[in-house]
Amino acid sequence: MAVAQTLRGVPLFRELTEDELGRVAAAARERTYPRNSVILFEDDPGDALFVVVGGQVKVVLIGEDGREVILSVLGPGDFFGEMSLIDDEPRSAHVIAMEDARLLVLRREDFQHALEEHPRIAIGLLRALSRRLRRADDKIGALVLLDVTGRVAKLLLELADEQDGVTITRKLTHHTIAQMVGSSRETVSRTMRDLVERGLIAVNRQAIVIQDRGALERAAGQ
Ligand code: CMP
Repeated sequence: MAVAQTLRGVPLFRELTEDELGRVAAAARERTYPRNSVILFEDDPGDALFVVVGGQVKVVLIGEDGREVILSVLGPGDFFGEMSLIDDEPRSAHVIAMEDARLLVLRREDFQHALEEHPRIAIGLLRALSRRLRRADDKIGALVLLDVTGRVAKLLLELADEQDGVTITRKLTHHTIAQMVGSSRETVSRTMRDLVERGLIAVNRQAIVIQDRGALERAAGQ
């Protein structure tokens, strides 16, 4: 029952009836992953789909020199691991727990069975994949068209918009921001200092606060 309630809040399963949802829930198992543990490895074969119930995970590519680029940060209601199940290719990226994470795991056979039995899941899947492609397009555009200040400004606006449009309380180190915008920690620290000095943002122990949204939007090319 608890699993079904969790799945009810997941956009992927929004189109399902109570009955259908119950059957998917019966096949899902809950697992917890401690902070920093690798949930799935790039290039491994894919054998399950994961739904985030609690905590946050990052989808990352890791270069030969150990540098990491964060493709996306996923939270409650998001899912991952579907790509390998759809195209039978190995995992396209690593997924790592950023904090203790609670996940629902649906094995490949159960996911494929659910998809065949309830084609409405496919509609939710297409919608989610379109949204993901939009975000990826947006990120490619930012990497090519904006400098680091622009990319940091854009990220801060997006993170603030996930809350009240002004405050970012999520714990983010400069290192993590650098991995999210494709830069180095040193450059991000310099950029953040510059944004504070120009009065665009304020930073305190609890939060980053946007003080001049207009200027930050202009920096982000909006
Ligand atoms: P899969 O390739 O099976 O394993 C890694 C998962 O990371 C992948 O499925 C997607 O669920 C997820 N993923 C890959 N690229 C992105 C992206 N750009 N944005 C969000 N999630 C992604």
